[in-house]
Amino acid sequence: MVRRVEAQQQKANNWLIPGDETTLELTIGYEQVAVDLTAWIARHEPDPYLRQVYEFGVLEDFDHLYRYSNLYELLEGKHANWIVGDLTEITPGRPTIFEHRHPADEIRRPMTAVASDPQSILNALTVMSAEQQTMNYYMTIGNRFIEPIARGLYAEIGMIEEQHVSHYESILDPSATWIENLLFHELNECWIYYSFMQTEPDPRVKQLYETHLAFEIEHLHIAAELMREVERRDPEALLPKSLDHVMTFEENKHWVRQVLDSQVQLTSRDSDFVPVSSLPQDDRYFAYNSQVNAGGTPSEEVIDMNRQANGRDYRLETEGDNPVEGLRLGGDGRTRGYSDRHPGLHA
Ligand SMILES: [Fe+2]
Ligand SMILES: [Fe+2]
Ligand SMILES: [Fe+2]
Repeated sequence: MVRRVEAQQQKANNWLIPGDETTLELTIGYEQVAVDLTAWIARHEPDPYLRQVYEFGVLEDFDHLYRYSNLYELLEGKHANWIVGDLTEITPGRPTIFEHRHPADEIRRPMTAVASDPQSILNALTVMSAEQQTMNYYMTIGNRFIEPIARGLYAEIGMIEEQHVSHYESILDPSATWIENLLFHELNECWIYYSFMQTEPDPRVKQLYETHLAFEIEHLHIAAELMREVERRDPEALLPKSLDHVMTFEENKHWVRQVLDSQVQLTSRDSDFVPVSSLPQDDRYFAYNSQVNAGGTPSEEVIDMNRQANGRDYRLETEGDNPVEGLRLGGDGRTRGYSDRHPGLHA
């Protein structure tokens, strides 16, 4: 019964997205959301390892925003600045070409539900859901283009979104019971609707969030009751007494720049984050990465194609040049370049 209601809510929310937006415009919206949602979450994450997990991920979606914005100019002749507004810059992040990692290096260390801060659980569920939705969206619409470069770019970035889902899903406590998971999912929905209610300027949309919040409070009661009845556990002992933060979409430009500058050179090895330069030449990262990129990579080709069409790549750098020297434009209008192994190690 609860699931039926959740399915209705999902339609009501998703149908708010304007029907006259193109697939690519919505895609750029998804990546902008990924950047600013993950940035807010990272800034409000109490656990240092988990904060690192979010900082690592945000640079990758930030780069996707740049790649898709170039595809947008190439195919539709428009600039993505009207979509991102004053909130988010568009410039290379950790280049997508370097994001292709061996699956064994995408699994993180889980938190324990009992010992973790409730905010950490809400953060993980929120970002994981956004990544899941993004992955599903690219899987569904990536084949709706006729241009090979667009089909390739969606296929490539769609694979990275699977990495992101695994990356965020694996920080959750794997020993939590089904009912515990249900309880926290409902709490998470309450928190999100409550947060959006606080900041939504359109009264009709705000009313929708308020109505859905009322649904979720009831779902939370049902989950709590189920836990008492089936597991003979006390849900009050698991739930936080209060939630201190309201999630807000806001500008994170300087924060993103600082993370980019200091962490572009990181990759992951098992569940750790390490500079690429610390890996031995025969590491599985290089073997996997070079095999995936053999024969050309759409995320690089789209930039070359747009540069050929418009004489430059598309960027929206409102706060100055890209903080990473290798990602700035050189005198010839091309990105200065990465070292043969990784950017941030200046060419
Ligand atoms: Fe992304
Ligand atoms: Fe992502
Ligand atoms: Fe719910």
